[in-house]
Amino acid sequence: MQTVGIGVIGCGIGKWHLEGYDTDPRANVVAISGLEDRCHDLAREHDVPNVYTDYREMLARPDIQAVSIAVPNFLHVPIGLDAIAAGKHVLMEKPLARNTEEGEVLVRAAEEAGLVLGIIFNRRSRADMQALKSAIDRGALGEIYHARAYWNRRAGIPGLGSWFTNKDGAGGGPLIDLGVHVLDMALWLMDEPNVTRASAATYAKLGPQGIGNWSGNRFSVTTDMPYEVEDFATAFLRTARGSTLYLEASWAEFSSRTDEFGVHILGTKGGAELDVKDYATVGTLKLFSFEDGVQIDAVPRLPEKVASAGHAEVIHAFLDSILDGVPMVPDGRNGLERTALIDAIYRSAREDREVEVPSVMSLLEVGAA
Ligand SMILES: NC(=O)c1ccc[n+]([C@@H]2O[C@H](COP(=O)([O-])OP(=O)(O)OC[C@H]3O[C@@H](n4cnc5c(N)ncnc54)[C@H](O)[C@@H]3O)[C@@H](O)[C@H]2O)c1
Repeated sequence: MQTVGIGVIGCGIGKWHLEGYDTDPRANVVAISGLEDRCHDLAREHDVPNVYTDYREMLARPDIQAVSIAVPNFLHVPIGLDAIAAGKHVLMEKPLARNTEEGEVLVRAAEEAGLVLGIIFNRRSRADMQALKSAIDRGALGEIYHARAYWNRRAGIPGLGSWFTNKDGAGGGPLIDLGVHVLDMALWLMDEPNVTRASAATYAKLGPQGIGNWSGNRFSVTTDMPYEVEDFATAFLRTARGSTLYLEASWAEFSSRTDEFGVHILGTKGGAELDVKDYATVGTLKLFSFEDGVQIDAVPRLPEKVASAGHAEVIHAFLDSILDGVPMVPDGRNGLERTALIDAIYRSAREDREVEVPSVMSLLEVGAA
Protein backbone atom coordinates (compact mmCIF):
# COMPACT_ATOMS: atom_id res chain seq x y z
CA MET A 1 0.00 0.00 0.00
CA GLN A 2 1.26 3.46 -0.87
CA THR A 3 1.64 5.64 2.21
CA VAL A 4 1.98 9.38 2.78
CA GLY A 5 4.52 10.82 5.24
CA ILE A 6 2.72 13.27 7.51
CA GLY A 7 3.75 16.09 9.85
CA VAL A 8 1.29 17.62 12.33
CA ILE A 9 1.85 21.22 13.43
CA GLY A 10 0.09 22.20 16.67
CA CYS A 11 -0.64 20.13 19.77
CA GLY A 12 -4.05 21.45 20.88
CA ILE A 13 -6.69 20.23 18.44
CA GLY A 14 -3.71 18.68 16.62
CA LYS A 15 -4.57 15.72 18.87
CA TRP A 16 -7.71 15.05 16.80
CA HIS A 17 -5.60 15.12 13.62
CA LEU A 18 -3.34 12.45 15.14
CA GLU A 19 -6.36 10.37 16.16
CA GLY A 20 -7.68 10.74 12.61
CA TYR A 21 -4.40 9.69 10.97
CA ASP A 22 -4.29 6.67 13.32
CA THR A 23 -7.47 5.37 11.62
CA ASP A 24 -5.98 5.44 8.10
CA PRO A 25 -3.23 2.90 7.27
CA ARG A 26 -2.13 5.08 4.33
CA ALA A 27 -0.86 7.73 6.77
CA ASN A 28 2.60 7.51 8.30
CA VAL A 29 2.94 10.31 10.85
CA VAL A 30 6.65 11.06 10.94
CA ALA A 31 6.77 14.16 13.16
CA ILE A 32 4.88 16.63 15.32
CA SER A 33 5.75 20.29 15.75
CA GLY A 34 4.64 22.53 18.60
CA LEU A 35 5.91 24.72 21.37
CA GLU A 36 4.87 22.89 24.55
CA ASP A 37 5.80 19.77 26.53
CA ARG A 38 2.38 18.30 25.72
CA CYS A 39 3.69 17.71 22.16
CA HIS A 40 6.06 15.06 23.56
CA ASP A 41 3.15 13.40 25.40
CA LEU A 42 1.15 13.35 22.17
CA ALA A 43 4.10 11.90 20.26
CA ARG A 44 4.38 9.09 22.83
CA GLU A 45 0.62 8.39 22.74
CA HIS A 46 0.59 8.14 18.95
CA ASP A 47 4.02 6.52 18.37
CA VAL A 48 5.36 9.51 16.48
CA PRO A 49 9.17 9.32 16.43
CA ASN A 50 10.10 13.01 16.01
CA VAL A 51 9.11 16.26 17.75
CA TYR A 52 10.20 19.70 16.51
CA THR A 53 9.88 23.09 18.12
CA ASP A 54 10.74 24.77 14.82
CA TYR A 55 8.20 23.65 12.22
CA ARG A 56 10.57 24.79 9.42
CA GLU A 57 13.04 22.06 10.38
CA MET A 58 10.18 19.58 10.17
CA LEU A 59 9.16 20.90 6.73
CA ALA A 60 12.71 20.26 5.48
CA ARG A 61 12.25 16.47 5.88
CA PRO A 62 11.94 14.74 2.50
CA ASP A 63 9.97 11.86 4.09
CA ILE A 64 7.06 14.25 4.81
CA GLN A 65 4.72 14.86 1.87
CA ALA A 66 1.78 16.43 3.70
CA VAL A 67 1.11 18.46 6.83
CA SER A 68 -1.81 19.18 9.10
CA ILE A 69 -1.79 22.76 10.39
CA ALA A 70 -3.56 23.24 13.74
CA VAL A 71 -2.08 26.44 15.11
CA PRO A 72 -3.58 29.82 16.13
CA ASN A 73 -5.45 31.52 13.28
CA PHE A 74 -2.80 34.20 12.62
CA LEU A 75 -0.30 31.46 11.76
CA HIS A 76 -2.51 29.53 9.33
CA VAL A 77 -1.45 31.40 6.22
CA PRO A 78 2.26 32.00 6.98
CA ILE A 79 2.81 28.36 7.99
CA GLY A 80 0.61 27.18 5.09
CA LEU A 81 2.71 29.18 2.62
CA ASP A 82 5.95 27.78 4.09
CA ALA A 83 4.54 24.26 3.75
CA ILE A 84 3.51 24.85 0.14
CA ALA A 85 6.93 26.36 -0.63
CA ALA A 86 8.45 23.16 0.79
CA GLY A 87 6.25 21.13 -1.61
CA LYS A 88 3.88 19.70 1.04
CA HIS A 89 0.14 19.13 0.68
CA VAL A 90 -1.75 21.02 3.39
CA LEU A 91 -4.71 20.14 5.59
CA MET A 92 -5.70 23.38 7.34
CA GLU A 93 -7.77 23.79 10.49
CA LYS A 94 -10.76 26.09 10.24
CA PRO A 95 -10.98 29.01 9.63
CA LEU A 96 -8.85 28.96 6.46
CA ALA A 97 -7.54 32.45 7.23
CA ARG A 98 -8.29 35.56 9.29
CA ASN A 99 -9.61 37.38 6.21
CA THR A 100 -10.22 36.99 2.49
CA GLU A 101 -7.01 38.71 1.37
CA GLU A 102 -4.69 36.29 3.15
CA GLY A 103 -6.92 33.31 2.33
CA GLU A 104 -6.73 34.14 -1.39
CA VAL A 105 -2.92 34.14 -1.28
CA LEU A 106 -2.93 30.67 0.25
CA VAL A 107 -5.46 29.17 -2.18
CA ARG A 108 -3.63 30.62 -5.16
CA ALA A 109 -0.26 29.33 -3.91
CA ALA A 110 -1.60 25.78 -3.48
CA GLU A 111 -3.30 25.80 -6.90
CA GLU A 112 -0.19 27.15 -8.64
CA ALA A 113 1.98 24.51 -6.96
CA GLY A 114 -0.49 21.72 -7.84
CA LEU A 115 -0.75 20.72 -4.17
CA VAL A 116 -3.85 19.61 -2.29
CA LEU A 117 -5.23 22.20 0.15
CA GLY A 118 -7.95 20.74 2.38
CA ILE A 119 -9.91 22.43 5.14
CA ILE A 120 -11.18 20.84 8.34
CA PHE A 121 -14.95 21.26 8.31
CA ASN A 122 -15.22 18.21 10.54
CA ARG A 123 -18.82 18.58 11.63
CA ARG A 124 -20.34 17.72 8.24
CA SER A 125 -19.62 14.06 8.95
CA ARG A 126 -21.56 13.86 12.22
CA ALA A 127 -24.14 11.05 11.99
CA ASP A 128 -26.96 13.55 12.67
CA MET A 129 -25.74 15.93 9.92
CA GLN A 130 -25.33 13.05 7.46
CA ALA A 131 -28.86 11.79 8.17
CA LEU A 132 -30.28 15.27 7.63
CA LYS A 133 -28.24 15.75 4.45
CA SER A 134 -29.54 12.42 3.07
CA ALA A 135 -33.13 13.43 3.82
CA ILE A 136 -32.63 16.74 2.01
CA ASP A 137 -30.82 15.15 -0.94
CA ARG A 138 -33.58 12.60 -1.51
CA GLY A 139 -36.08 15.47 -1.62
CA ALA A 140 -37.87 14.67 1.65
CA LEU A 141 -37.95 18.36 2.61
CA GLY A 142 -38.76 19.70 -0.87
CA GLU A 143 -37.37 23.10 -1.77
CA ILE A 144 -35.38 24.64 1.09
CA TYR A 145 -36.32 28.29 1.54
CA HIS A 146 -34.95 29.17 4.97
CA ALA A 147 -32.45 27.92 7.54
CA ARG A 148 -31.50 28.98 11.04
CA ALA A 149 -27.98 28.20 12.17
CA TYR A 150 -26.64 28.92 15.63
CA TRP A 151 -23.81 28.21 18.03
CA ASN A 152 -24.30 29.87 21.38
CA ARG A 153 -22.43 29.63 24.66
CA ARG A 154 -23.41 31.20 27.93
CA ALA A 155 -19.82 31.36 29.19
CA GLY A 156 -17.54 29.97 26.54
CA ILE A 157 -14.87 32.51 25.66
CA PRO A 158 -11.93 30.20 24.87
CA GLY A 159 -9.40 32.03 27.01
CA LEU A 160 -9.86 35.69 27.89
CA GLY A 161 -6.59 37.38 27.02
CA SER A 162 -5.31 34.50 24.83
CA TRP A 163 -4.79 34.73 21.04
CA PHE A 164 -8.49 33.89 20.67
CA THR A 165 -9.61 37.29 21.99
CA ASN A 166 -6.95 39.28 20.15
CA LYS A 167 -8.04 40.73 16.78
CA ASP A 168 -4.69 40.11 15.09
CA GLY A 169 -4.41 36.67 16.64
CA ALA A 170 -7.81 35.29 15.66
CA GLY A 171 -9.25 37.68 13.05
CA GLY A 172 -12.51 37.80 15.01
CA GLY A 173 -14.51 36.24 17.84
CA PRO A 174 -17.26 33.59 17.93
CA LEU A 175 -18.31 34.34 14.35
CA ILE A 176 -14.99 33.21 12.90
CA ASP A 177 -14.48 30.52 15.57
CA LEU A 178 -17.92 28.85 15.92
CA GLY A 179 -20.02 30.62 13.29
CA VAL A 180 -17.77 29.27 10.54
CA HIS A 181 -18.77 25.70 11.51
CA VAL A 182 -22.53 26.29 11.50
CA LEU A 183 -22.39 28.48 8.40
CA ASP A 184 -20.54 25.68 6.68
CA MET A 185 -23.02 23.03 7.85
CA ALA A 186 -26.08 25.10 6.91
CA LEU A 187 -24.83 26.05 3.43
CA TRP A 188 -23.69 22.49 2.76
CA LEU A 189 -27.14 21.19 3.83
CA MET A 190 -28.77 23.81 1.56
CA ASP A 191 -26.68 22.52 -1.38
CA GLU A 192 -24.39 25.53 -1.56
CA PRO A 193 -26.55 28.44 -2.71
CA ASN A 194 -24.50 31.56 -3.52
CA VAL A 195 -24.91 34.00 -0.65
CA THR A 196 -25.30 37.40 -2.27
CA ARG A 197 -26.12 39.83 0.57
CA ALA A 198 -25.49 40.02 4.31
CA SER A 199 -26.99 42.18 7.02
CA ALA A 200 -25.38 41.77 10.41
CA ALA A 201 -24.58 43.15 13.84
CA THR A 202 -21.82 42.23 16.27
CA TYR A 203 -21.49 43.08 19.95
CA ALA A 204 -18.76 42.96 22.57
CA LYS A 205 -20.71 43.39 25.80
CA LEU A 206 -19.53 40.70 28.24
CA GLY A 207 -15.95 39.90 27.21
CA PRO A 208 -14.70 43.45 27.84
CA GLN A 209 -16.19 43.22 31.37
CA GLY A 210 -14.14 40.06 31.97
CA ILE A 211 -17.36 37.98 32.03
CA GLY A 212 -17.90 34.73 30.13
CA ASN A 213 -14.62 32.86 30.21
CA TRP A 214 -14.94 29.14 29.54
CA SER A 215 -14.47 27.55 32.96
CA GLY A 216 -11.99 24.72 33.10
CA ASN A 217 -10.49 25.41 29.70
CA ARG A 218 -6.79 25.06 29.11
CA PHE A 219 -5.99 28.74 28.64
CA SER A 220 -4.98 30.80 31.63
CA VAL A 221 -6.90 34.07 31.90
CA THR A 222 -4.78 37.16 31.40
CA THR A 223 -6.86 40.25 31.94
CA ASP A 224 -4.07 42.66 31.00
CA MET A 225 -4.73 41.92 27.30
CA PRO A 226 -7.72 43.92 26.04
CA TYR A 227 -10.74 42.01 24.73
CA GLU A 228 -10.68 43.01 21.05
CA VAL A 229 -13.25 40.81 19.27
CA GLU A 230 -17.05 40.39 19.33
CA ASP A 231 -18.72 38.09 21.87
CA PHE A 232 -22.03 37.86 19.96
CA ALA A 233 -22.79 38.05 16.23
CA THR A 234 -26.07 37.87 14.35
CA ALA A 235 -26.58 37.90 10.58
CA PHE A 236 -29.32 37.62 7.99
CA LEU A 237 -28.12 36.27 4.63
CA ARG A 238 -29.85 36.21 1.24
CA THR A 239 -28.93 33.76 -1.52
CA ALA A 240 -29.14 33.91 -5.31
CA ARG A 241 -31.87 31.23 -5.13
CA GLY A 242 -34.12 33.47 -3.04
CA SER A 243 -33.56 31.40 0.10
CA THR A 244 -32.41 32.97 3.37
CA LEU A 245 -30.25 32.00 6.33
CA TYR A 246 -30.33 33.41 9.84
CA LEU A 247 -27.16 33.00 11.89
CA GLU A 248 -26.18 33.53 15.53
CA ALA A 249 -22.80 32.86 17.10
CA SER A 250 -21.78 33.72 20.65
CA TRP A 251 -19.11 32.94 23.20
CA ALA A 252 -20.89 34.70 26.04
CA GLU A 253 -24.51 35.69 26.62
CA PHE A 254 -26.95 35.65 29.50
CA SER A 255 -29.14 32.75 28.35
CA SER A 256 -29.86 29.09 29.09
CA ARG A 257 -27.52 27.91 26.32
CA THR A 258 -24.48 26.32 27.94
CA ASP A 259 -22.91 25.23 24.65
CA GLU A 260 -25.47 24.60 21.92
CA PHE A 261 -25.31 24.49 18.17
CA GLY A 262 -27.70 23.44 15.48
CA VAL A 263 -29.34 23.98 12.15
CA HIS A 264 -33.09 24.24 11.54
CA ILE A 265 -34.37 23.88 7.98
CA LEU A 266 -37.67 24.93 6.43
CA GLY A 267 -38.67 23.27 3.15
CA THR A 268 -41.81 23.08 1.04
CA LYS A 269 -42.45 19.39 1.86
CA GLY A 270 -40.85 19.09 5.27
CA GLY A 271 -38.72 20.67 7.91
CA ALA A 272 -35.96 19.62 10.27
CA GLU A 273 -34.41 20.66 13.56
CA LEU A 274 -31.00 19.42 14.54
CA ASP A 275 -29.83 20.55 17.99
CA VAL A 276 -26.62 19.55 19.74
CA LYS A 277 -26.03 20.34 23.39
CA ASP A 278 -22.71 20.36 25.23
CA TYR A 279 -20.72 18.68 22.44
CA ALA A 280 -22.91 15.56 22.39
CA THR A 281 -21.46 13.28 19.73
CA VAL A 282 -24.99 12.69 18.51
CA GLY A 283 -27.60 15.43 18.76
CA THR A 284 -31.39 15.49 18.51
CA LEU A 285 -32.65 15.39 14.95
CA LYS A 286 -36.37 15.88 14.31
CA LEU A 287 -37.90 15.66 10.85
CA PHE A 288 -41.33 17.18 10.23
CA SER A 289 -43.67 16.36 7.35
CA PHE A 290 -47.34 16.11 6.35
CA GLU A 291 -48.66 12.87 4.86
CA ASP A 292 -52.22 11.63 4.27
CA GLY A 293 -53.57 14.69 6.03
CA VAL A 294 -51.49 14.01 9.16
CA GLN A 295 -48.62 15.98 10.69
CA ILE A 296 -45.66 13.64 11.21
CA ASP A 297 -42.68 14.10 13.54
CA ALA A 298 -39.86 11.57 13.06
CA VAL A 299 -36.86 11.21 15.37
CA PRO A 300 -34.20 8.94 13.82
CA ARG A 301 -31.99 6.89 16.13
CA LEU A 302 -28.42 7.59 15.15
CA PRO A 303 -25.08 5.97 15.95
CA GLU A 304 -22.55 7.64 18.25
CA LYS A 305 -19.15 8.48 16.75
CA VAL A 306 -15.95 9.37 18.60
CA ALA A 307 -15.31 13.10 18.89
CA SER A 308 -12.44 13.03 16.39
CA ALA A 309 -14.41 11.06 13.76
CA GLY A 310 -15.03 14.20 11.71
CA HIS A 311 -11.31 14.87 11.48
CA ALA A 312 -10.76 11.24 10.45
CA GLU A 313 -13.24 11.55 7.59
CA VAL A 314 -11.65 14.74 6.24
CA ILE A 315 -8.27 13.00 6.57
CA HIS A 316 -9.48 10.02 4.48
CA ALA A 317 -10.58 12.48 1.76
CA PHE A 318 -7.20 14.30 2.00
CA LEU A 319 -5.31 11.03 1.46
CA ASP A 320 -7.67 9.99 -1.38
CA SER A 321 -6.88 13.30 -3.01
CA ILE A 322 -3.10 13.04 -2.57
CA LEU A 323 -2.81 9.39 -3.60
CA ASP A 324 -5.60 8.97 -6.15
CA GLY A 325 -6.24 12.50 -7.43
CA VAL A 326 -9.83 12.53 -6.14
CA PRO A 327 -10.91 16.20 -5.86
CA MET A 328 -10.59 17.30 -2.22
CA VAL A 329 -13.85 18.06 -0.42
CA PRO A 330 -13.89 20.35 1.47
CA ASP A 331 -11.01 22.22 -0.16
CA GLY A 332 -9.27 25.59 0.12
CA ARG A 333 -11.87 27.27 -2.12
CA ASN A 334 -14.64 26.09 0.23
CA GLY A 335 -12.65 27.52 3.14
CA LEU A 336 -12.16 30.79 1.26
CA GLU A 337 -15.90 31.03 0.47
CA ARG A 338 -16.70 30.84 4.18
CA THR A 339 -13.97 33.36 4.98
CA ALA A 340 -15.30 35.81 2.35
CA LEU A 341 -18.79 35.45 3.80
CA ILE A 342 -17.54 36.06 7.33
CA ASP A 343 -15.67 39.16 6.08
CA ALA A 344 -18.91 40.43 4.53
CA ILE A 345 -20.77 39.84 7.81
CA TYR A 346 -18.13 41.82 9.72
CA ARG A 347 -18.27 44.57 7.07
CA SER A 348 -22.04 44.80 7.34
CA ALA A 349 -21.83 45.06 11.13
CA ARG A 350 -19.13 47.75 10.91
CA GLU A 351 -20.95 49.80 8.28
CA ASP A 352 -24.40 49.25 9.86
CA ARG A 353 -26.01 48.28 6.52
CA GLU A 354 -26.65 45.35 4.17
CA VAL A 355 -23.62 44.55 1.98
CA GLU A 356 -22.93 42.50 -1.15
CA VAL A 357 -21.00 39.25 -0.67
CA PRO A 358 -18.33 38.77 -3.37
CA SER A 359 -18.13 35.39 -5.09
CA VAL A 360 -14.87 33.59 -4.47
CA MET A 361 -14.61 32.50 -8.09
CA SER A 362 -14.65 36.14 -9.19
CA LEU A 363 -12.18 37.14 -6.45
CA LEU A 364 -9.69 34.51 -7.64
CA GLU A 365 -10.21 35.45 -11.31
CA VAL A 366 -9.76 39.17 -10.63
CA GLY A 367 -6.63 38.46 -8.61
CA ALA A 368 -5.21 36.34 -11.43
CA ALA A 369 -5.89 38.97 -14.14
N1 LIG B 1 -12.17 21.82 13.90
C1 LIG B 1 -12.39 21.93 15.20
O1 LIG B 1 -13.31 21.33 15.74
C2 LIG B 1 -11.47 22.81 16.01
C3 LIG B 1 -11.52 22.77 17.41
C4 LIG B 1 -10.63 23.57 18.12
C5 LIG B 1 -9.74 24.41 17.45
N2 LIG B 1 -9.75 24.44 16.09
C6 LIG B 1 -8.81 25.32 15.35
O2 LIG B 1 -7.49 24.81 15.51
C7 LIG B 1 -6.55 25.88 15.60
C8 LIG B 1 -5.75 25.72 16.89
O3 LIG B 1 -6.65 25.83 17.98
P1 LIG B 1 -6.29 25.15 19.38
O4 LIG B 1 -7.53 25.22 20.19
O5 LIG B 1 -5.65 23.84 19.16
O6 LIG B 1 -5.22 26.20 19.92
P2 LIG B 1 -4.08 25.98 21.00
O7 LIG B 1 -3.59 27.34 21.32
O8 LIG B 1 -4.53 25.04 22.06
O9 LIG B 1 -2.92 25.18 20.23
C9 LIG B 1 -2.17 25.77 19.24
C10 LIG B 1 -0.92 24.93 19.03
O10 LIG B 1 -0.15 25.57 18.03
C11 LIG B 1 1.21 25.48 18.41
N3 LIG B 1 2.00 26.54 17.81
C12 LIG B 1 1.86 27.87 17.98
N4 LIG B 1 2.81 28.52 17.29
C13 LIG B 1 3.57 27.57 16.67
C14 LIG B 1 4.72 27.59 15.85
N5 LIG B 1 5.28 28.73 15.47
N6 LIG B 1 5.22 26.42 15.44
C15 LIG B 1 4.67 25.26 15.79
N7 LIG B 1 3.58 25.17 16.58
C16 LIG B 1 3.06 26.31 17.02
C17 LIG B 1 1.21 25.62 19.91
O11 LIG B 1 2.41 25.11 20.43
C18 LIG B 1 -0.02 24.81 20.26
O12 LIG B 1 0.35 23.46 20.46
C19 LIG B 1 -7.36 27.17 15.54
O13 LIG B 1 -7.28 27.67 14.23
C20 LIG B 1 -8.79 26.75 15.86
O14 LIG B 1 -9.75 27.53 15.19
C21 LIG B 1 -10.59 23.65 15.38
